[in-house]
Amino acid sequence: MAKTITLVFLCLQLLATSSEEILILQPFCPKSHKVVVDPIAETLGSKGHHVTYLSPFSYEGSAPANVTEIVYHQYKPYFATFQDIWRDLHSKLCQQLYDSGLLQKWTNNKKKFRVVLIDSVFTECILPLWRNFGDSVIILNSSPLNPMIVKMLNLPTPYSHVPYIIHPYTHRMSFSQRFVNTLYWISSSYVAELSQAISSFFYPRPYLPTVIRIGGIQCRPAVPLPESNLKKFIEDSGDDGFILVSFGSIINGEFIGENLISALKTAFAHIKQRVIWKYESEITGLSNNVRTVKWFPQGDILGHPKIRVFINQGGLNSVQESLYNQVPQICFPMASDQPLHAVAVSNLGIGIQLDYTTVTAEEIVSSINKASNDPEMRKMVEYYSKVFRDTPEPPVQTAVYWIEYVMKFNGALHLQSAAGDLNSIQYYLLDVYGLILLIMLLVGTLLWFSIKKTVKYFLLI
Ligand SMILES: *[C@@H]1O[C@H](CO)[C@@H](O)[C@H](O)[C@H]1NC(C)=O
Repeated sequence: MAKTITLVFLCLQLLATSSEEILILQPFCPKSHKVVVDPIAETLGSKGHHVTYLSPFSYEGSAPANVTEIVYHQYKPYFATFQDIWRDLHSKLCQQLYDSGLLQKWTNNKKKFRVVLIDSVFTECILPLWRNFGDSVIILNSSPLNPMIVKMLNLPTPYSHVPYIIHPYTHRMSFSQRFVNTLYWISSSYVAELSQAISSFFYPRPYLPTVIRIGGIQCRPAVPLPESNLKKFIEDSGDDGFILVSFGSIINGEFIGENLISALKTAFAHIKQRVIWKYESEITGLSNNVRTVKWFPQGDILGHPKIRVFINQGGLNSVQESLYNQVPQICFPMASDQPLHAVAVSNLGIGIQLDYTTVTAEEIVSSINKASNDPEMRKMVEYYSKVFRDTPEPPVQTAVYWIEYVMKFNGALHLQSAAGDLNSIQYYLLDVYGLILLIMLLVGTLLWFSIKKTVKYFLLI
């Protein structure tokens, strides 16, 4: 009996799935965003869909089955400093993408993609155009929900407990924080349209069914390190273990500033643990327990039993991978959404937040000691790691399910909130409250006058 049921189910599955054309656009992303999308592309390909995947980076080795890569070389200075990113970079990137002719080529294709997945970084200039080459769109978002996405999805966002993307606030805010938070949210408004967003976020907040959370999609159990000097360095670290230092893929190690570099150098000379430091060029005067590397398999190193602490910049992937592997962290947030993540880390008690512009070597040493020894922090790290891993199915399955759902139901417009049809006055019910206030005033005035009249009448008698 069980067999029959399985078979019937399988047949239905076969009928239901067809091979679709899917486009993934990640033209301007740091590598940390590709890491999140790679497993989605791979799983879609293995299910028989044809995936065209545009990204500045290619897969290590060959692309997965049914995935066609377009390696798109973006404007290079992206990888300089954060200041550069915000200058005139945005328009330059868009111009370059238009000049590449890719969008025009897809627009001229007879057959459209069934769905276009667009990374949310700097892609506003693609959003008005995706209809030319796609039936529906899904936004891939690797950070807290920004005002543009909130607006596009008409997502209820109570400013009272949803911190703005770049602020170091938690979901519990003081009056002044709520004041600043509200000003930031209401002063950043964008308008656009889409069918579905995929996202992940820390704090409980209202969502609509158009937001699918796939946090931790890039995390996977660590595999043993290949034989190498790095592996030997780690395994010879004894009971003291080792510390990993990486400030992410956007910014090269040398851009973190003189103060932090020299404080770290001095601090590392005073600790027993070994240190692996992701750094692109040479640092002079390092103590013997420190090794710099240009690249390393971060997930596998974080999963090594000898790791004690992860020092990072508060980037979402780093914070999540650290939590996944139950590693306490020390965050030096530098820009963008990093302060928000760093404050969440210290707020949850799973790590420590420090200021990279003023930190001293003593602070670093004492933070490393606390992060590697404090039993309370260990308990919190274990607890929140379990919470983080506890999903009904692997996040990649969730992502692929919803991507197929959007294709199956032609953009799944039935999931869209009616809030999009309302203007701000209607949405915040200002018209309704206004009318209620008016009625109350009228009734109050009438009452007042009639009481006055009655009193006068009786006084006159
Ligand atoms: C690639 O897609 C085709 C259908 O388009 C499918 O038959 C095939 O199994 C897929 N390849 C792999 C390796 O999954």
